[in-house]
Amino acid sequence: MCLVKDCWHVWRGVNMKAGESSGLQVRNLSVTFGRGRKAFQVIEDLSFDIAAGETLGLVGESGSGKSMTAAALMGLLPWGGRVSSGSVRLGETEMTRLSNAALRAVRGREIGMIFQNPLSSLNPSLTIVQQIAEPYCLYCGASISAARTHALKLLKEVGVPDAEKRLDDYPHQFSGGMRQRVMIAMALACNPRLLIADEPTTALDVINQAQILRLIQRLQKEQGMAVIFITHDLSLVAEYAHKVMVLYAGKTVEQGSAEDFFQAPRHPYSQALLNAIPRLMSVGKRLTDIDGLPPRPQEFPRGCRFAERCPAMTPECLTAYPERTGTDAHHFFCIHPVGGAA
Ligand SMILES: Nc1ncnc2c1ncn2[C@@H]1O[C@H](COP(=O)(O)OP(=O)(O)OP(=O)(O)O)[C@@H](O)[C@H]1O
Ligand SMILES: [Mg+2]
Repeated sequence: MCLVKDCWHVWRGVNMKAGESSGLQVRNLSVTFGRGRKAFQVIEDLSFDIAAGETLGLVGESGSGKSMTAAALMGLLPWGGRVSSGSVRLGETEMTRLSNAALRAVRGREIGMIFQNPLSSLNPSLTIVQQIAEPYCLYCGASISAARTHALKLLKEVGVPDAEKRLDDYPHQFSGGMRQRVMIAMALACNPRLLIADEPTTALDVINQAQILRLIQRLQKEQGMAVIFITHDLSLVAEYAHKVMVLYAGKTVEQGSAEDFFQAPRHPYSQALLNAIPRLMSVGKRLTDIDGLPPRPQEFPRGCRFAERCPAMTPECLTAYPERTGTDAHHFFCIHPVGGAA
């Protein structure tokens, strides 16, 4: 009980005043592992904004830094990792300067996270209702019975059948897809200002996937949540995101409104990702894959990180990371963009 009170006080201490700006603003965010000569960056110089009610689709190959970006925003980096530069503002709160207790409180109340792996993110020794209701009691000041009612409503909303009977079950009694739904209910429990959804529907079939994404969309409209939607599936980004940011080897290669990006991608890597999407209209045509592998963080080159795999590569690409080209609404980092230099 004492813990509940403590968290509630810390939360009230950092609570945002009515009328202040909402949404997320990230500037020059870098994450470094290790020290001295062994230090290496896994994400570097990321900058983006997400307004309330807006969805940013974060895409890129495996290992490009999508989950690390989410972990940095949450202040939940793995051991050995630290935010080595940059700023993360949620509303008026600078997250990188908060104490651990204040950060925990903002995270519990203001940020919902749907983790990539629902099994390892649920506590096997607590029932489902305990896991959904706990943040609601701790950070929203609800009573235990109100939190139970709220948990039941959320479970029904995310489509858990017989929700009343399943409240007191443990995670191992749920299938993979149902665990993913529970994870989503937990993330939405406190009506967060920012929802980070890291591959939120990988364990679901396409019908359930569409149901869950529409639910997130509806809640986003009702509550004005900013959403970061991390996925490998560009067709889902085209359907659900307002903006797109493409990561490659820890750096942004292209960023823009979904409309601009899908109509005219400028970075050869973005183009290659789009060419790899199966399309109904091109049945019988071979999908184009991207030869080679991204570099490891310990071996990031000085120049463009995609150069070694890029069909447009020239020696200049290897000398320095390309400057940002374009506008705030749509920009890219490439000296040989698709469609030619502006
Ligand atoms: N604990 C760690 N210590 C050091 N480096 C790590 C650690 N965890 C991940 N990395 C490195 O950070 C980089 C980014 O990893 P991240 O998990 O963010 O990729 P991702 O884009 O989410 O990939 P996926 O699509 O497979 O989930 C990778 O090069 C990875 O090897
Ligand atoms: Mg990941």
